[in-house]
Amino acid sequence: MSPETTAVGPIGELEAIEKQVLEALGTADSTGQVQEVQISYLGRKGPLARVGKSLGGLPVEERRTVGQVANRVRGLIEAAIADKLAALESSEREGRLEAERLDITLPGRMPPAGRLHPLTEVLEEIVDIFVGLGFQVAEGPLVETDYYSFQALNIPQDHAARSMQDTFYVDTGAPEPFVLRPHTSPMQARVMESGPPPHYMVVPGVVARRDEVDANHLAQFMQLEGFAVDTGISFSDLKGVLEAFARQMFGDHLKVRMHPSYFPFTEPSAEVYVSCFACDGSGCATCRGEGWIEILGAGMIHPNVFRSVGYDPSTTGFAFGMGIERIAKFKYSVTDLRSFYENDLRFLESR
Ligand code: DAH
Repeated sequence: MSPETTAVGPIGELEAIEKQVLEALGTADSTGQVQEVQISYLGRKGPLARVGKSLGGLPVEERRTVGQVANRVRGLIEAAIADKLAALESSEREGRLEAERLDITLPGRMPPAGRLHPLTEVLEEIVDIFVGLGFQVAEGPLVETDYYSFQALNIPQDHAARSMQDTFYVDTGAPEPFVLRPHTSPMQARVMESGPPPHYMVVPGVVARRDEVDANHLAQFMQLEGFAVDTGISFSDLKGVLEAFARQMFGDHLKVRMHPSYFPFTEPSAEVYVSCFACDGSGCATCRGEGWIEILGAGMIHPNVFRSVGYDPSTTGFAFGMGIERIAKFKYSVTDLRSFYENDLRFLESR
């Protein structure tokens, strides 16, 4: 870049210098180029210096005017150069930072999304089905009196279930014996005592038994009790409700079968089976070759139960009770009930 001065007279020359510098700065795109402009125009051998040297030969008046213009032009050029340098330096720094940028971010880690426990899902599904059939939901205490757990349900004093080997007794300090309820049936009596029929109720909840824990037994598990107390309730109502439940739970084409059984609080009593949903009744590993799976106990509420809650013993009603883990075991093809409580994520995520 060679500065040229073609204008006539020192002032014209100074204006031309200013214009050239501004043009040169306009096209400069590196700090190096700006420094070249700076050296060639402001340096000791540059055009401004040359004009300055020529001042000595001018008349006094003109010398002052030209000197002032020369100072103004120098100031202006210095400021323009400083501005341009600052602008280029900052954009060069940004470019350098961008080029040297090191990506140290890791792929994001999604927090695992939770879900309901398979047992909770099964329990909610069962409750939903009964709510759809017109039942209400009640819950009762886990620490229950001996009276509601046994006596009110026509379970005699010498019944095996009342032994210390089968039931957890709780020492509350009160004279009345308390137990961890071994079934959800006590709520039959509590609900009936709370008011006259009709009652259409399901009672989900935790129960406890002094069972040796193995693949098919847990010391703490869940049950769902259900009962309907109303005028004219018959055994066929029971069968109809349980069939509707079983089909919604396991499949439309299922058959329901009832076997005579015995429970102190129902008469007659039945064990209820559904045809195996895995093999459709022909016999497989799920039903152990039986073709049928027992899913619950049921029956017509015993007159003695009605007596103990102060109802007329000719009142009619049915009751049933099922184990939630047992239903879930069939639904999810689980072979060991303990897996539901081990909290192994590999198990939980696969259900
Ligand atoms: N309480 C029974 C049990 O724990 C289950 C049961 C059977 C409940 C028959 C009932 C019933 O209401 O009618 O094994």
